Amino acid sequence: MTTVTAALGDVVQSDADAVVVNLFEGVTSPAGGTGAVDAALGGAVSALIADKEITGKLGEIAVIHTLGKLPTKRALVVGLGKREKFDADAARSASAAAARRLRQLGAKRAATIAHGAGIGGLEPSESAQATAEGTLLGLYEFKRYRNSRGAGEEGGGGKTLDELVILERDEHRLRALADGAAKGSLLAECAILARDLVNEPANVVTPERMAQAASEVARDAGLDITILGREDMAIHKMGAMLAVAQGSANDPRLIVMDYRGDPERPENNVALVGKGVTFDSGGVSIKPSAGMWEMKGDMSGGASVIGAMKGIAALQPKINVFGVVPAVENMPSGTAQRPGDIIRAMNGKTIEVDNTDAEGRLILADAICYVKEARGARRVVDAATLTSAVVVALGHVASGVMGTSQPLVDAVLAASKATGEKMWQLPLFDEYKRQNRSEYADVKNTGGRPAGSITAALFIGEFTDGVEWAHMDIAGTFLSERVNGHLVKGATGVPTRTLIRLAEDLARAG
Ligand code: BES
Ligand code: MN
Ligand code: ZN
Repeated sequence: MTTVTAALGDVVQSDADAVVVNLFEGVTSPAGGTGAVDAALGGAVSALIADKEITGKLGEIAVIHTLGKLPTKRALVVGLGKREKFDADAARSASAAAARRLRQLGAKRAATIAHGAGIGGLEPSESAQATAEGTLLGLYEFKRYRNSRGAGEEGGGGKTLDELVILERDEHRLRALADGAAKGSLLAECAILARDLVNEPANVVTPERMAQAASEVARDAGLDITILGREDMAIHKMGAMLAVAQGSANDPRLIVMDYRGDPERPENNVALVGKGVTFDSGGVSIKPSAGMWEMKGDMSGGASVIGAMKGIAALQPKINVFGVVPAVENMPSGTAQRPGDIIRAMNGKTIEVDNTDAEGRLILADAICYVKEARGARRVVDAATLTSAVVVALGHVASGVMGTSQPLVDAVLAASKATGEKMWQLPLFDEYKRQNRSEYADVKNTGGRPAGSITAALFIGEFTDGVEWAHMDIAGTFLSERVNGHLVKGATGVPTRTLIRLAEDLARAG
């Protein structure tokens, strides 16, 4: 993987394969590092701006050959967009676009100025963190099963950028830049761990393999981990989890990772619960085959929890965090559950299974009951590819957020703002609850077409008594259809970085 670091130096003196400077939209005579490069190149950048060949539009890249006027062979000018719209997310996008172009050009070692740390108004640490995240996430590829290294759309084609150094002339700012680059690299690594698990096919990532991936993270980070199998689930009377699992030849696992960041105050805790359906065929209520492959990513919530636990263990916030992943495969078979079946969750509530494709809420019910009862969780934040209805509501731009604790929902939204993983709250008005009523059981696992994301959340809410609870529906955001800023085609890693930020924020709030 590419390394991103910070060092004392100046892009006009760098002998890297290429240097990266930047430009805000509308600037005609660049200052700072871009100005210095412009001057050394005899006004080449200003001339390109004057001729409108460089506009500064976000993510736009111009490549200028230095022809011996600078120690480096090429200068890249990356657009930062409009200054009034600039933020850390724009810095992430610009860094990603620059990194992909550097790789395409065959650059191995590159140097960059810190995007937006001057007139952009970002703190140096924030700027460096965004640069590292954008670079590493934007260069991400999942190519382990491809023998031929064909260069796809903006793909690496076997080329790699080995190192990017953020150069800074002021030694007083170097520490912050170095720390930011290290933190950004860690966060990107965690999101990439999640992306890899999501992109892996379901014949590879089974519930058992999810547990193995979590065990490896726990071992490397020194976290305790508990893994429950079918028998343990039966002992705990997890009827909902077992009902979903009963159609599959792949045994379920309930994964619980333990980070103890505040051992003196065990009640200062939060449980991060991620839906881990390793494949969702729909079960007997089977899905149409077109696009069904996407359901290999129905464990995205769980993958992001595993990725987040790695980051939390490294950053050591003063809070106790349980990372919980109910991992199960939803398949149709002679042993599968049927529509109309009535099952009993761990807390004793009975559920009429109206549709076996509404399986996520079933496994989350038991996972939440377990972490409450067995671990004394006080706050629960879950992430799940739960409903296609959230795609209707918010498209592929934002995840839906719901919950019974407005302070916890607000904390999730604030964390999401900081990471750029967009989220938007939907209401849980009592009026929607009637849609989940069952004729035969305490509750039904579907609520009909209207407000499908809300009724799904309200179903989970039936199992959150006594805890503060917030829920993220990531069905619209777990995959990206195209290269877009720090996202590439395939798994996004959402909401790994937001979960890590949330744990840090909750720890800071005490
Ligand atoms: N995993 C799906 C939701 C989903 C759909 C995720 C598209 C990502 C992309 C979930 O288990 C599901 O099937 N939900 C149903 C619920 C319905 C049967 C009440 C849905 O949303 O259609
Ligand atoms: Mn389903
Ligand atoms: Zn599902």
